[in-house]
Amino acid sequence: MSDEKKKGLRSQAWFGKQDRDGFMHRSWIKNQGYPDDMFDGRPVIGICNTWSELTPCNGHFRELAEFVKRGVYEAGGFPLEFPVMSLGETQLRPTAMLFRNLASMDVEESIRGNPIDGVVLLMGCDKTTPSLLMGAASCNLPTIGLSGGPMLNGKFRGHDVGSGTGVWMMSEMVRAGQMTMDEFVASESCMHRSKGNCMTMGTASTMASMVEALGMSLPENAAIPAVDSRRYKLAQLTGRRIVEMVKQDLTMDKILTREAFENAIRVNAAIGGSTNAVVHLLAIAGRMGVPLKLEDFDRLGAEIPCLVNLQPSGKYLMEDFYYAGGLPAVIREIQGWLRPEALTVNGRTLVDNSREAPCYNREVITPRDEPFKPDAGIAVLKGNLAPNGAIIKPSAASPHLMQHRGRAVVFESIEEFHERINDPELDIDEHCVMVLKNCGPKGYPGMAEVGNMPLPLKVLQKGITDMVRVSDARMSGTAYGTVVLHASPEAAAGGPLALVRTGDMIELDVAGRRLHLDVPEAELARRREQWQAPETPKRGWYKLYVDHVQQAHLGADLDFLVGGSGAAVPRESH
Ligand code: FES
Repeated sequence: MSDEKKKGLRSQAWFGKQDRDGFMHRSWIKNQGYPDDMFDGRPVIGICNTWSELTPCNGHFRELAEFVKRGVYEAGGFPLEFPVMSLGETQLRPTAMLFRNLASMDVEESIRGNPIDGVVLLMGCDKTTPSLLMGAASCNLPTIGLSGGPMLNGKFRGHDVGSGTGVWMMSEMVRAGQMTMDEFVASESCMHRSKGNCMTMGTASTMASMVEALGMSLPENAAIPAVDSRRYKLAQLTGRRIVEMVKQDLTMDKILTREAFENAIRVNAAIGGSTNAVVHLLAIAGRMGVPLKLEDFDRLGAEIPCLVNLQPSGKYLMEDFYYAGGLPAVIREIQGWLRPEALTVNGRTLVDNSREAPCYNREVITPRDEPFKPDAGIAVLKGNLAPNGAIIKPSAASPHLMQHRGRAVVFESIEEFHERINDPELDIDEHCVMVLKNCGPKGYPGMAEVGNMPLPLKVLQKGITDMVRVSDARMSGTAYGTVVLHASPEAAAGGPLALVRTGDMIELDVAGRRLHLDVPEAELARRREQWQAPETPKRGWYKLYVDHVQQAHLGADLDFLVGGSGAAVPRESH
């Protein structure tokens, strides 16, 4: 590397100093056995690792990091791996989402405060992807994403079973007496039988697809199974590429443009992606200073059909998706709808990368003229029940409920819901609208994935499998149903959802994009006067979060984290 280029490397502000400070920065790192020439002005690549045994979806990341390092060394860089807070979706209480913004702060400050010129983000389980992208975006160094890849298809008694989706389905079967508890427990190790993230098109696979669609990873990142040797080849190529990106000064702002987000929204529609992509993409865009609104998801995704026949909306799983051609095959199919100028980390555009991408299975990835489902994307609903918007995923909903008027049955909390839902005395039938309050960003806190409330037993026993549900919560990307989510403002912030009472009539009109509480304005005003805000946390992260979290329609980031601070070298430490 020329002296001119070396001067531009921020790591040289640590390692290039010929004085006491330079000694300290180099000498302590040398205790790990690195030779002198590692500090000679070659790009230092930080490998941001979310490995944790408590995040089982990312449990193979130490191995993956070794392959990234191979690539970095090959290209003449110096890789240094560092851990950040890892968020395991199935373990963290009260919800991993409460800590997405905290983890993003860890990522941001770890990058900025260290001698790093370029970054590889190792991401997998749901919240690990947005938290790393958000934190890195606020630094804006050359950055490349590498997802951990999905697990192999679950196999149980001769059938494929999908992460999450199979749990929701089988637990309802147990409740309805169609499956024993022993059978249910026996399926645990059959559903999740390899390393990797959930293999349905849930939030993890959706977000891995968003990483690829945004241009933040090399092609094929989303779908290669975690245990496939090609995942490790991709890791090595990712390591090689980030060194080149540093030399080219290919920073995140050149990739995460408005055009890239538009492409991501359209790809999310085409894959039938998770509703969680909405809050995450809004938050990432907020960090980059890219203007993106909730309404963009409806407007941009509306004309895109769903082409991918994957659970929870369809039949197949991520392993099938990869063998069918993966995300490049989908991108090729919808290329006419995509912004052709959006650049990716390999220096080519998203559309160019996928121009010749083959499709090997038209059952899994359908052609755009014969789509798996014509109704895709996210519908944004407005009305007096959600003045700032609420969302529904039409491809996961029941067509006969998309226009519905029903009597509200209200639950003030998820605990109250669990207490009462199977009470035979509960006055509820399949025509009612289940309403859940206080599960939004401030209310839960952390906006839990509880919006897909299980149906009452007595309704389930009639063979009914779906009802209209409305809340300020999120739902798991592996769930399905006619579920209205992310109502904003949320109940705990005094949104109109807080004023709904059992017996009120609610109208859902997805085609008209309307969510209406049929109660006179004067009565709502009277109820508003009586409303009391819930108690808020008094200390620690919970307090900081509740005091500063923004509403769902803005991406639920903390207000003071929106935007970025760049990667200027901080003052010396000694
Ligand atoms: Fe980690 Fe689904 S629980 S990806």
